[in-house]
Amino acid sequence: MQLFYHFGSKHLARKRILPFLLPLLEDGDEYREPLVGAGAIALSVMSRYPHMPCWINDRDPAVAALWRAVKESPDELIRRVREFHPNVLDFRAFSTAIDAIDTLPESPAAIIELGFQQLAVATMRWSGHGGSPRGGYRQQCPRMQIPTKSPADSEMMSPGVPR
Ligand SMILES: C[S@@+](CC[C@H](N)C(=O)[O-])C[C@H]1O[C@@H](n2cnc3c(N)ncnc32)[C@H](O)[C@@H]1O
Repeated sequence: MQLFYHFGSKHLARKRILPFLLPLLEDGDEYREPLVGAGAIALSVMSRYPHMPCWINDRDPAVAALWRAVKESPDELIRRVREFHPNVLDFRAFSTAIDAIDTLPESPAAIIELGFQQLAVATMRWSGHGGSPRGGYRQQCPRMQIPTKSPADSEMMSPGVPR
């Protein structure tokens, strides 16, 4: 399970990590994961132990905003995703806005918008390592173009990454 593909994601390693980690949590009181990124392991832990308090951390304001929006404003985040039509202009604008931010915004609306932009950019780009949008800025490679559907209705990850 993962919400978006992120550099260093443990999504592919989770089958090795979870059999070791989950038994350790059977008698645990809480789960803490710093540097959570896309949260491949944290989401699996929360799914397995839905009542266990879970503390996650990331210093990237856009990543932190996305997780705050998921936790505190899921309906607003989903609405924003459903109304969005992926395109190169917004990819550029969101990437620029994310790069310009170095602290988490204070208002809930700004947190939702920044978190949405993080999700949108991560879904439109060709790799979890960053870089240009799928299919390039000119969208000249049909098989690799950014999806025309909203992220909610399309593949959430780069085409080359197994789910
Ligand atoms: C390799 S990614 C984590 C991947 C994650 N384990 C996953 O499965 O998706 C590293 C993350 O740690 C965050 N990070 C790096 N240094 C940090 C720090 N000092 N404190 C908090 N987060 C940090 C980065 O912003 C990045 O999102």
